[in-house]
Amino acid sequence: MRLLILNGPNLDLLGTREPAIYGTRTFEDFLVELRKEFPGHQLDYFQSNVEGEMINALRNAEANCAGVVMNAAGYSHTSVALRDTLAGMQVPVVEVHISNVHAREPFRHVLLTAAVSAGCITGFGLEGYRLAVEYLLRRGG
Ligand code: DQA
Repeated sequence: MRLLILNGPNLDLLGTREPAIYGTRTFEDFLVELRKEFPGHQLDYFQSNVEGEMINALRNAEANCAGVVMNAAGYSHTSVALRDTLAGMQVPVVEVHISNVHAREPFRHVLLTAAVSAGCITGFGLEGYRLAVEYLLRRGG
């Protein structure tokens, strides 16, 4: 099965960005391990700091992938455009947050994207991406 992992703004800085919250591991390093754990499946990866590029990546995934694991980062709290894109999608999108957004500042408790996602995993660190991939593979996309 082909899945897209889509990361939003500032997640290119994982490893050095606020390590007390997001850890010290780069996503690229984690991705090597993740891909080894799911041989026989294609895990595409795209990161962007640009909202429109994320929307284009979601549309592209709808045409080419069976599901998406998305951490829209700060856009999860603000982007009506991303929310609207998700609402119209025919393939499941699992929302992931590395930190537990509900235990942080009140503005992070609002997730515009979560209500139009298949589900939301928050607070389990990078493990959340693994759980999301497992879910999508078990459900068959
Ligand atoms: C995040 C949480 C967001 O509130 C924040 O803006 C991020 C990362 C997370 O993975 O915990 O950039 O999505």
